[in-house]
Amino acid sequence: MAEFTLPAASRYKDIPGKRHPAPAGATRVVNFQIYRFDPDQPDKPRIDHYAIDMDRCGPMVLDALLKIKNEIDPSLTFRRSCREGICGSCSMNIDGVNTLACTKAIADVKRDVKIFPLPHMPVMKDLVTDLTQFYEQYASVKPWLQTKSEAPLGRERLQSKQQQEKVDRPSACILCACCSTSCPSYWWNSDQYLGPAALLASYRWIVDSRDEAQAARLDQLDDAFKLYRCHTIMNCTEACPKDLNPAKAIAEIKKMMAERP
Ligand code: SF4
Ligand code: SF4
Ligand code: FES
Repeated sequence: MAEFTLPAASRYKDIPGKRHPAPAGATRVVNFQIYRFDPDQPDKPRIDHYAIDMDRCGPMVLDALLKIKNEIDPSLTFRRSCREGICGSCSMNIDGVNTLACTKAIADVKRDVKIFPLPHMPVMKDLVTDLTQFYEQYASVKPWLQTKSEAPLGRERLQSKQQQEKVDRPSACILCACCSTSCPSYWWNSDQYLGPAALLASYRWIVDSRDEAQAARLDQLDDAFKLYRCHTIMNCTEACPKDLNPAKAIAEIKKMMAERP
């Protein structure tokens, strides 16, 4: 599978694609430039141009992608599901930033809307990347409750409000991968560095008062690459469309690691 690297703006014209003009009479036109990759022609990626009549299109980038697929070019391929910023499927690089197509307003992009797959990921087709490794890394931190003690009889394992607040925000991660694929450390070492999304998931269970595997979780991360490849560049926190703070979670894991006996 081809690894995708965002081309510099000056190279766009070197990979021209098809042009789809706006319908006659359109007065409010926005141009979309969309990366196209056909796995049957892996050496011929291109940028297709679509001129969209905004009087007949919804306000979000996902609305435009759906309009293109439904009305202009059914071969355009991308993931989406909830349309509400909840499933994490529609993550892509829009206007140079990793984000969710369904929550990105077209009006917030000042010139042509340039859309690419998440960077430094193997591309399967057009805007669809292969997230197998990303999900394996998530699974590797065992993102579920681990206990040794007997469960209390007839009720759940309880938490105070303060204890719940520690896991409340990290639990809101939708696994969109916007953070990990904006992290330079992850770009260069994604086979060994777990990346901010998996580390945030690990942190979410390390600080859960009901979990009884904190020491084992920290042991697993105590590795020159898995955790310590984070150099606090902060791209991850900037990129998160759910306003989560994986960089802070990683810093707190490092602090716990340094302070443990
Ligand atoms: S803070 Fe760490 S995880 Fe986040 S972008 Fe920087 S190096 Fe990557
Ligand atoms: S931390 Fe944010 S950017 Fe990263 S996977 Fe979770 S929701 Fe997406
Ligand atoms: S379609 Fe679910 S997050 Fe965008």
